[in-house]
Amino acid sequence: MPEQHDGPTADEKGLILITGGAGYIGSHTVVALHEAGYRCVVLDNLANSSSSVLGGIAKIIGTTPDFVEADVADTHTLDQVFESRRIDAVIHLAGLKSVGESVSSPLDYYSVNLESTLSLLRSMHRFECHTLLFSSSAAVYAPGQESPITETAAIQPTSPYGRSKQMIEQILVDTAASDDRWRVGLLRCFNPVGTHPSGSIGESPGSKPNNLMPSVMDVAAGRGETLRLFGDDYPTPDGTCIRDYIHVMDIARGIVAGLQRVRAMTGTRVWNLGTGRGTSVRELVSAAEEATGVEIPTSVTDRRPGDQPVAIAAIGRAQHELSWDAEHDVATMCDDHWRWHRLHAAPATTASPP
Ligand code: UD1
Repeated sequence: MPEQHDGPTADEKGLILITGGAGYIGSHTVVALHEAGYRCVVLDNLANSSSSVLGGIAKIIGTTPDFVEADVADTHTLDQVFESRRIDAVIHLAGLKSVGESVSSPLDYYSVNLESTLSLLRSMHRFECHTLLFSSSAAVYAPGQESPITETAAIQPTSPYGRSKQMIEQILVDTAASDDRWRVGLLRCFNPVGTHPSGSIGESPGSKPNNLMPSVMDVAAGRGETLRLFGDDYPTPDGTCIRDYIHVMDIARGIVAGLQRVRAMTGTRVWNLGTGRGTSVRELVSAAEEATGVEIPTSVTDRRPGDQPVAIAAIGRAQHELSWDAEHDVATMCDDHWRWHRLHAAPATTASPP
């Protein structure tokens, strides 16, 4: 029988297990949870992060979070985490997240993302913890959706990464339908960028950028001569794709707001997390030039397969039901991302002749 633990006292909001808590969204969420009065346990296998992230978090919140270095699919360790602590709810962020990599290594994506979720659900059920918030993605929506994209829009992901998110959503919906103790929130995040304003935590400097913001910052920092614009002949005002970039601290606060909502409901509910505002690639480059004070040369190349012209979140449901709103504009996202990038990214190397 699972060991019994006392629940949260009146002056605290409870203990939250956060998988992937040392990652990009995860580390910012740990800060937001602390600010909202939660305690948390970070579980992360450090596959795409490092233990130094915990020091960065400690600089901001004044204490090092409880940390377990383990894979979510490691059921034995996961059971030990639940057995030794009274976990009130879980925020599940751990997983592989590169769209391009998922196309070349689909089995890794299905195996890591699905097995970790199944392992987590089983442990949660064994220890009678039935409150879960899952970080899904805008990548689950079918191509060609009219923006702003509502939560009821057609689902048809175009990559193994997106399909792994869709499958997890389905597993969670089915699980919640099977037992009315489950409370499950699904957050479909649009394009998180920016970092904590302190510059103490950010995106893993080790990961090779393929998303726009880190690529822009690399060129601004002198790594790479030009930024490649993947097509400027889209049906948008300046011909480049439009996305809903959202500050990662707004995502983190949205996750905390989602957690609060999920704890007060039953069943399953999905919310978009975005700003409801669109920014084109060229507009983002201009904002980054403003923030960095550096001219960012661009060269137009072919379209990247799978890119949609426009993807902007409808955020009315999140605003209304989570009493949440995105606060930061694109200028702040660029300022913060640049601060982190200058402090932590590897210095640019001068190419030497062969
Ligand atoms: C990508 C993922 C999405 C994920 C999101 C947030 C794809 C198809 N989707 O979205 O699942 O949730 O990141 O991490 O990859 N661009 C350039 N030059 C570059 C890089 C990007 O022009 O060097 C353009 C892209 O063509 C796109 C826009 O910038 O139009 C944004 O790209 P990116 O940052 O990769 O995000 P998404 O593709 O929207």
